[in-house]
Amino acid sequence: MEINSETQLLGVIGHPVEHSLSPVMHNSVFEKLNLNCVYLALDVEKEKLGTTIDACKALNFIGLNVTIPHKISVIKFLNKVGREAELIGAVNTVKFEKGRAFGFNTDGIGCVKALKGDGIRIKNKCVLILGAGGAARAIAFQCILEGADVSISNRTMEKVVELKDEIGLKLKKEVNVLNFNLKKHDLEGIDVIINATSIGMHPKTNSTPLDAGLLNQDIAVMDIVYNPIETKLLKDAGKIGCKAVNGVGMLVHQGAESLRIWLGIKAPIEIMKKAVIGKIPD
Ligand code: ATR
Repeated sequence: MEINSETQLLGVIGHPVEHSLSPVMHNSVFEKLNLNCVYLALDVEKEKLGTTIDACKALNFIGLNVTIPHKISVIKFLNKVGREAELIGAVNTVKFEKGRAFGFNTDGIGCVKALKGDGIRIKNKCVLILGAGGAARAIAFQCILEGADVSISNRTMEKVVELKDEIGLKLKKEVNVLNFNLKKHDLEGIDVIINATSIGMHPKTNSTPLDAGLLNQDIAVMDIVYNPIETKLLKDAGKIGCKAVNGVGMLVHQGAESLRIWLGIKAPIEIMKKAVIGKIPD
């Protein structure tokens, strides 16, 4: 695709950002749909965050994704923040319009859409989330907004109790808190397990957040880790006969939601998946 004076700018800001798969994913869409847009990886240190948002306004950027470590701190530089982002307390998508910057969070909805894409619905289901970090927070809020009953298990107990209190305050919903040393009875009645920790991620691919002996084939298992595509958790789940959903789905669906916000388009999910998978080493 030719880059010219009409080309519109988008990108991801983070630090570090060189391993981000978002440029290859979004540029594959622009190429496929013949859109005169380009998506860049922009390494931004925290002292430069405010200047970067102003610079993007000045350069008429269409939008940005925001990644570690700026998802929370970017909020103070934005003009307005959407409901999900406000609840979660973090922004992963910025849209620029008429010199103003609007913040959204598509991580939670990306997770739920990835589950739906694999035929897993969570309304009135019991969902166990492993982890209480940034990704887990987004997923927990969204699962509750979608009508799921949520349990959360995390290594650091204070973090999960804090999250439970926050959800109680903001959504008036009870969350079941579990410690990280899960036992068979903790999983009774659980329909879906979502690993939102980094356990199992390259290079520690032999690690798993959950003992395989706790699983049974009625539980659907999703991992948000996408490198490797099939984590140890998903391998164990597959052997037991569980429905297993890999992390590429969430990555692609959160990106597709960002594209909808920026450009109002229905993103070609399969093209995005192919572009991403092509960049993940075997
Ligand atoms: P992200 O924004 O990707 O969610 P994060 O906010 O750093 O990243 O959260 C990482 C999550 O993985 C946390 O829930 C963390 O548990 P703690 O809250 O106890 O730190 C979890 N995690 C990472 N490595 C872990 C490990 N080896 N054992 C247990 N939990 C781990």
